[in-house]
Amino acid sequence: MAISTLPEPPVKTMPSVAEIRADFPILDIEVHGHPLVYLDNTASSQKPIQVIEAMNRYYREQHANVHRGIHYLSETATSAYEDARRRIARFIHAGSTKEVIFTRNTTESLNLVAYSWGRANLGPGDEVLITEMEHHSNIVPWQIICEITGATLRYVPITDRGELDYEALDALLTERTKVFAFTAMSNVLGTINPVEELVAKAHAVGAIAVVDAAQSAPHMTTDVQALDADFLAFSSHKMLGPTGIGVLYGKRDLLEAMPPFMGGGDMIREVKMSGSRWNDLPYKFEAGTPAIAEAIGLAAAVDYLSNLGMDWVLQHERELTEYAWERLHEIEGLRILGPGPERRGGLLAFVLGDIHPHDVAAILDMEGVAVRAGHHCAQPIHDHFCIPATSRASFYIYNTREEVDKLVNALYKAKAVFAF
Ligand code: ALA
Repeated sequence: MAISTLPEPPVKTMPSVAEIRADFPILDIEVHGHPLVYLDNTASSQKPIQVIEAMNRYYREQHANVHRGIHYLSETATSAYEDARRRIARFIHAGSTKEVIFTRNTTESLNLVAYSWGRANLGPGDEVLITEMEHHSNIVPWQIICEITGATLRYVPITDRGELDYEALDALLTERTKVFAFTAMSNVLGTINPVEELVAKAHAVGAIAVVDAAQSAPHMTTDVQALDADFLAFSSHKMLGPTGIGVLYGKRDLLEAMPPFMGGGDMIREVKMSGSRWNDLPYKFEAGTPAIAEAIGLAAAVDYLSNLGMDWVLQHERELTEYAWERLHEIEGLRILGPGPERRGGLLAFVLGDIHPHDVAAILDMEGVAVRAGHHCAQPIHDHFCIPATSRASFYIYNTREEVDKLVNALYKAKAVFAF
């Protein structure tokens, strides 16, 4: 079904942040005697009641397997599942629901491209270009597929400001490059990459462009047609939806030409003992019973975000990030990785003197402040800066300036504990 024939998205009304917070039951809990300050949104966001209820309603009233039954419930579940796909296609401005494949998460989406497209299209002499700022899920599948196919993996370096080295990029993109895979927004540096420009650079040398949108899709408008991305991957759980479901957008002609990623039920048209024929898109890439309730939950999540408007989401996070940038810089000995707030999304990874990031996170936790500490599945970035780990605070639609203040106060406590 063409997306243009879909009904309009829900009417926009602009709630206050206090009203948004009231939709998230978990934000009312206390942690170690303090109100929860949830600043680990880059790892996973919290879920509004609208998502929780959509999934509850499905299990209470609609559940059966999809695409298989002739009975009422199976048809109800199929229609809810496919309606979810349409709403998600509209959210990313896909031209067709055939181009929207449900996977488990961004990682599986990127593996699907690497294995399915890569095995069919890469060989010795070919090059796969990725960047030093990638999450492991956009590194390891390409390492594996280069090993299998004999293609060569190359990396665009980053600068000490935490941005792509564009001179190096222009030198590395050649007619040998078959794939350029890059993140739209770094999960450590916060850097927002110019996706449209990078896609155009890939296309200029005849390469396909694969976009890891795990960190951008939750926070800003995603228009796959405007970006002209060949593939674009994201996860539900970072954008108010449930865990266990992600999306791979792919251009139809590329998906049509690719072999399946996994074999099994639903992805076939016919199975004989002598061989099998594949189902149409998108089912060719959805083997087995899919995550039905999760697709419905993700659709409720994108409706929630659409109702706010992605411009509002980006603006809200930008204001918080600017404020946090200023406040964190007041703390002597604290160093933030990556560019200034005007070039980054709503996350700040930092080191606090010599205090181990795990110790920082543990002290913040005692104050009710949840941040992530570690290498955040992006070891090459940390290697670049010669540090093993960082602490990371990351914001979403429900965070407030008061919570940034609590983060700063808790960091002063960490300094006091370590007499630093
Ligand atoms: N990729 C997620 C993060 O950055 C898990 O925390």
